[in-house]
Amino acid sequence: MEFDERFTDRLPFHDPDEAEQAHAGATASSGDARIGHLQRVPLFSGFNEDELRRVAELSRIVEAPMGTVITQIGEPGDSFFVIIDGMVAVRTPVGAGSQLRPGDFFGEMSLVDGEPRSATIVATTDLRLLIVDRFHFWRLLDETPDLTRRILTILSRRVRHLEQTVNAILHGPSPG
Ligand code: CMP
Repeated sequence: MEFDERFTDRLPFHDPDEAEQAHAGATASSGDARIGHLQRVPLFSGFNEDELRRVAELSRIVEAPMGTVITQIGEPGDSFFVIIDGMVAVRTPVGAGSQLRPGDFFGEMSLVDGEPRSATIVATTDLRLLIVDRFHFWRLLDETPDLTRRILTILSRRVRHLEQTVNAILHGPSPG
C-alpha cells in the first residue's frame, strides 16, 4: 500500500484553507454541512445544537483517500481525530491492532501526555475526519464535560482490551 506523506501529522493541519489548498484530493467542509456530519457521530450523540456548533467551531472536517498515513508512530502529534466516515487500521509496537470505524477517535494520547505518536494509523478506506488541534482539544474538553467522560470511558475499555490481549498471549485464551 502506498502512503500519502502529505497527510501525516507533521503537515500544517491547522489552517483549513491551507490544508485545503495544499492537499490535492482533500476537501474541507464548512458551516451547516459540518453540523450535519457531527450529528451522525455517536461520540456526540445527545449533544444539543449549541454544543454541536461549538464542536464545529473548534474543529474542521477533511477528506483523505485510502492509504493515507494519518499518524506515524514515533512522530510528534498535535491533532485529535474522530472518524466520521471510513475505517482506519491501528498498528502499535505490539503489532497490528484493531480497525477503527465511524464514531471512533484516535490521536488523544500525544495531546494528553506530549509524547510521540504511539501507533501508526492508516486509512483503509477513503475517510472523512473531524480534526481538533492541541489548543482547541483542551478547550473542547473544558467546554463539553460529557465528551471528556465518553473519551475516558473508551480509553478505559482500550486498556482493558489490551490487558486481556496480553493476558491471552501470556497464559493462553481464557476458557469460553
Ligand atoms: P496517539 O499516540 O496520539 O496517536 C496514535 C493513536 O493510536 C493513539 O494516540 C491512540 O488514539 C491510538 N491507539 C494507540 N494504541 C491503540 C490501541 N491499542 N487501540 C486503539 N487505538 C490505539
